[in-house]
Amino acid sequence: MALMTIVNLPDPVLRRKAHKVTDFDRDFEQLVTDMIETLRAAPGVGLAAPQVGVSKRVIVIEYGDEEDEEAPKKLYVLANPEIVSASEQVVKGVEACLSVPGLVGEVERYYGVTVKGMNRKGKPVKVKAQGWLARIFQHEMDHLDGIVYTDRATEVWKPKEGEEYAAD
Ligand code: NI
Repeated sequence: MALMTIVNLPDPVLRRKAHKVTDFDRDFEQLVTDMIETLRAAPGVGLAAPQVGVSKRVIVIEYGDEEDEEAPKKLYVLANPEIVSASEQVVKGVEACLSVPGLVGEVERYYGVTVKGMNRKGKPVKVKAQGWLARIFQHEMDHLDGIVYTDRATEVWKPKEGEEYAAD
């Protein structure tokens, strides 16, 4: 296990379209393990491989129930994720990003998305996400296409002291 370095803008890897994962081998499993460790240490709620300098289409998300802070967090690992359906409803919310320190911004996202991809063993998985979890998925998947939330934000600002948002 090893912590990876989180890269920040303007690192060009954050602007690249990441490559599809084709080999679900030991190296890939190690990458996923290291990404999870790095996400927890940050701490953050989501991390995409380009954020640790690896141009591959894999994201890790660890997030609990937004209604119940006591509920255990759930870990999602998705390689080659794709949105297969999205709600008509869009919602605004404030996002922060581990690769864009010191800023937050308001972004409109689909309220709900269904995402399909593969787990770390290469088996197909499908996740139905709503609310904040759906927002995290959309934020992370943007990273795989070289998009950062500030590109989509209607407003970006420096948070005041005590104003904190989970970063991904
Ligand atoms: Ni981010």
